[in-house]
Amino acid sequence: MLKKAGIIEHNLESELILMHILNWEKAVLISNLNRNLNNNEISKNNKIIDKRIKRIPLPYILNKIHFFGIPFYINKNVLIPRQETELIIEITKKLAVEQQYSDFKILEIGSGSGIISIALAKELNNKKIEYILTDISGKALEVSLKNIAQLNKNKNTFHIIKTNLGNGIKGTYKFIISNPPYLSKKQMDHLSPELQSEPRNALYGGKNGYELSLELLLETKQKQIKFEYIILEINSEAYLEFFNQVNIIFKKQNIYLIKDYTKNYRFIIVSTKNIDKKLNEYSYLRN
Ligand SMILES: C[S@@+](CC[C@H](N)C(=O)[O-])C[C@H]1O[C@@H](n2cnc3c(N)ncnc32)[C@H](O)[C@@H]1O
Repeated sequence: MLKKAGIIEHNLESELILMHILNWEKAVLISNLNRNLNNNEISKNNKIIDKRIKRIPLPYILNKIHFFGIPFYINKNVLIPRQETELIIEITKKLAVEQQYSDFKILEIGSGSGIISIALAKELNNKKIEYILTDISGKALEVSLKNIAQLNKNKNTFHIIKTNLGNGIKGTYKFIISNPPYLSKKQMDHLSPELQSEPRNALYGGKNGYELSLELLLETKQKQIKFEYIILEINSEAYLEFFNQVNIIFKKQNIYLIKDYTKNYRFIIVSTKNIDKKLNEYSYLRN
């Protein structure tokens, strides 16, 4: 039925549905392929399939997604985490572990379900870091609160603030990180049915896609929010125009464009220091 409905990853999604219904890991599923489903399980399966063939994304139906190996709760009020975003965790971790201090703050703008900061808190467990999560959507922040309650096993400090970009934010942050909405008007006009289910304000970044990201950077500069690194996920289609604009805003800083695993420029780092050596395992372009 999923295949007929045009769902590309129908095999994988069928497995995920069964794993969800049976509460099994993949290995258990594979070694029990002859097990029949009982009536209750069949009914659960059919309900999920009915929704999925209406092109509601599976993570919204199951209220679950794995990101960086962590099972997060999600619903239709937040973006479905994307695999490429995992590289933000890798890069931030690499820069953070080399810090001689262990006591600092990380500000996340547009935190959505909280995946980035929560995954970072797990990875940077031996440092005393305060995480400040901000989003314009109160409903998204509710999802992040639920994830923090379930997943913050190390009892890191999280602050949650509902605000437009950096409004009302002051102080000094070692890292400002964000995966802001960055789709352009043209991309918004051609969204797949699944993408149309995601919150518009988690996708649309302005006519060229990067307007909101520029606003974020300008505010940071104008309000003199102190930082050592700003790390943003970006739209790979408009990376060069964006890079040029960022160079105008932060003339004196070191600016790096970093490729993701599919070889697209996907991240920008504005750093107060030269970090060429620290980034040598990545493919990057710099000013
Ligand atoms: C692309 S989603 C990223 C969510 C999450 N960090 C992730 O990577 O899955 C962008 C988030 O930015 C939020 N957002 C959009 N406009 C904003 C604004 N002006 N100020 C603060 N947050 C905003 C959206 O509500 C959404 O949660």
